[in-house]
Amino acid sequence: MPPEPLCTEEDISALVHAFYARVRRDDLLGPVFDTHIDDWDRHLVKLTDFWSSILLRTGRFTGAPMPRHAALPGLNAAMFQHWLALFHQTAAEQPNQAMARQATEAADRIAQSLWMGYQFSHTPDTLPRGLCHG
Ligand code: HEM
Repeated sequence: MPPEPLCTEEDISALVHAFYARVRRDDLLGPVFDTHIDDWDRHLVKLTDFWSSILLRTGRFTGAPMPRHAALPGLNAAMFQHWLALFHQTAAEQPNQAMARQATEAADRIAQSLWMGYQFSHTPDTLPRGLCHG
């Protein structure tokens, strides 16, 4: 028997929609997304594909997160930290906690790497710093 999948596409879609609904209401991050996203339906499909590629290995995501984030002006460690805090809160509320655990582990790793890449691209002469845990 093949192993039981970690989650369904519906579980992923629920996580993504709940997370971005929270982000859009957020005082710190909401304005960044408002400025740069003009088609939310398309963004949510893209981010569902991204998480489906990570959690179910569907290979549906074909974007380029590193250059996309490097191109956003004015991001800082506090914003990445806060993005992660909102992601953790949203994941904790999902009924599928096995999926939530894997998603938060991946989000932690990817946020670190996007923030390192961001610093390399914006302040190449300064040693990049990691995000704090907790
Ligand atoms: C301060 C934190 C963050 C902010 C403000 C932010 C904001 C944004 C914005 C505005 C876009 C759209 C860019 C565009 O289409 O030109 C975007 C795309 C995206 N973000 Fe983030 N983001 C953050 C962190 C993260 C993290 C930690 C992840 C993953 C764990 C992530 C995953 C993605 C993905 C997959 C895309 C689509 C990239 C593509 O089109 O190739 N973001 N983000």
